[in-house]
Formats: sequence, C-alpha cells, structure tokens
Amino acid sequence: MEVIIRPTADAAADLVAAVIARELRANPHLVLGLATGRTMEGVYARLVRMHREEGLDFSLCSTFNLDEYVGLSADDPRSYRRYMEERLFGQVNIDRRNTHLPDGMASDLEAECRKYEELIRRFNGIDLQLLGLGRAGHIGFNEPLSALHSRTRVKALSPVTLAQNAPWFGGVDKVPRRAITMGVGTILECRRCLLLATGAEKADIVARAVEGPITAMISATALQLHPRCTVVVDEAAAAQLHGTDYYRWIFENEPEWEPFRRA
Ligand code: GLP
Repeated sequence: MEVIIRPTADAAADLVAAVIARELRANPHLVLGLATGRTMEGVYARLVRMHREEGLDFSLCSTFNLDEYVGLSADDPRSYRRYMEERLFGQVNIDRRNTHLPDGMASDLEAECRKYEELIRRFNGIDLQLLGLGRAGHIGFNEPLSALHSRTRVKALSPVTLAQNAPWFGGVDKVPRRAITMGVGTILECRRCLLLATGAEKADIVARAVEGPITAMISATALQLHPRCTVVVDEAAAAQLHGTDYYRWIFENEPEWEPFRRA
C-alpha cells in the first residue's frame, strides 16, 4: 500500500483524476472500476473537464461500478446509475453499452450478483478500481463483518451507513435497507486500487484502515493485502496517521510519482 498526502481535498482529487487519465491514455480499452459518494464528485468533474479541454477519450473504455441500492430503478434520481449518468457518463464520450452497474431491480438478486461477477470476468477483470471510504470503514457497501473473500452479493446496510447516506434521501427512514455490492474478494482481484478519502471526519477511519490490523470489521483494511493499492488523502484526513514522514518521503522520491508531484 502507498499513502499519498496532498495539501487539500482539491489537490487530492487532482491527483486521483491525473492517475486515471494517465492510465486511460496508456490503455484506451481500460476497464475502470467506479465509486460513488460525495468525495468522488470532484474526481468526475475533473475527468469531464479533461475530456472537454484535453480530449480525454472514453470511447473504448468500459466501467464497472462497485454497488447499487436494491429497489431503486436506473432512472431513480437517487440511484447510483443516475449519479454516474449525471456526473460522468452523460458528459463524456463513453459508450453506454460499456457501462455496468448491478441492477437493483432484478427479480432474482442472487442471479444478478452472479451475472455481475461473470461479466467482470468476461472483461478480463478490472484494471483500475476507484474507491471511496465509508464512515464504517467500508469499501463499496462491504459493511462490518464482510468476509475478506466475499464476492458480489446483497448486503444489509449498517446504521452508520444509513445515517451517512440519509442526506441523499431526505431522511434515514427513506434510505434503501440493502444494496448489491462487489465483495471484498472481488475488489482485491482488481489489478490496481485507488482509494480517495478527504476531510477531518475521515481521519480516524483512514488511520484504522491503513495502519490498523486487518479485520472484517473494517473492510478497507483488506486493501493492505492488495499488491498495488494507492490511498490518496488530504492533510485533514491524514491527521491521525503515524507514518506520514515516510509516506511523504515515498511520494517525493519514487520515480513513479514524478509526473504527479506538481498535480
Ligand atoms: C457510500 C458508497 C461507497 C462510498 C461511501 C463514501 O457508502 N457505497 O462506495 O465510498 O459512500 O461516501 P462519501 O464520499 O460521500 O463520504
């Protein structure tokens, strides 16, 4: 795992967008794993700007989102499909047929989960998976006690997650109780993971995810097992990390990060 600390949330989003853009330019057929949430909005806004101003091309790229609520249709304004439409798909030249999210309205949810896994396999796996970090330390909707080898499945959302997502729904009672999510095992198979977490309210969970013991209680700790995972945080979210001097040294000295130091 590598940790990169940027001065502000904007600078952190700049860096994440720059990494995605670089991978996409190097491989126009990139299979990109996508995440939702407030933190990702800045990343998508930057990718849209790069598409408009620098011709960043999404025409051959395919995407797989981490999760979707059970019971929300694709055109429901609160669905993750709509989130993606509004913030990215509708604003760049991506082919909709190459964009994938689990179908939260499927009549057979278990079959839908199996189908999603199969589809990822048919695309030869995910090259770069973008991840946010939930307050409960979850990636996707892998709530506490998610098995570290879990695959795409239906999960009941924890009270912490219901509260976190309540503002989108106008109250905690209106948040769907369940979601389909890629499993921790599914995420660990992606060739590269890129997690973005910003803001003081994430400082405690970032420290536990990065420097704490691996535990199914905090699914993000499983990323410590991933051979190529980069965690990007701003100073506020880095506040409770212990190894910051070392993380900064790596970023300043590893040749891989040279093109990104000014980002
Ligand atoms: C939800 C999503 C996660 C996301 C998390 C963080 O729980 N299912 O994929 O990472 O929210 O959201 P935010 O960026 O709004 O803090």
